[in-house]
Amino acid sequence: MKKLCIKTSLASYSMEELSESDRALILEAKEMTKKSYSPYSHFQVGAAALLADGTIVKGSNQENAAYPSGLCAERTTLFAANANHPDQPVKALAIACFTAGHFTEEPGAPCGSCRQVMLETEHRFGQPMRVLLYGEKAVYVFDKAEDLLPYGFFAEDLEG
Ligand code: THU
Repeated sequence: MKKLCIKTSLASYSMEELSESDRALILEAKEMTKKSYSPYSHFQVGAAALLADGTIVKGSNQENAAYPSGLCAERTTLFAANANHPDQPVKALAIACFTAGHFTEEPGAPCGSCRQVMLETEHRFGQPMRVLLYGEKAVYVFDKAEDLLPYGFFAEDLEG
């Protein structure tokens, strides 16, 4: 038996430490929490994707009375970006979560399915997609989506 270790890394920033462009993307994600349709969880998530040509595509979580039919903010955003701008790499994705009257103290952790979609978006364009997770106490920055899902599943894995 051999033990293997998977390592990943992220950086924790204050808003003031971030670049103007990262701050602006986070503000868009925060603003988008207001457009969340989340009558069941009351957990409002907003996301904003910066494309290579400078376009910003935005989204929010969309719930449904048939619970599994809903979709997270990350995926409404990335699917909208990839559907409308299929040739534009996504350079960065910012996410913010609002519940019980305030933004979460801790940066929100994207669910596994969203991480998988982030990974494929990054992979299809062959360049890193930075991920910015907003929290009132700190902003977590991942240099690439793969850092959120190491040992991920890719199209090549289908070939065995
Ligand atoms: N949600 C997101 O939109 N993104 C995440 O990263 C985590 C969870 C949504 C799904 C659902 O509408 C609500 O938050 C509660 O899970």
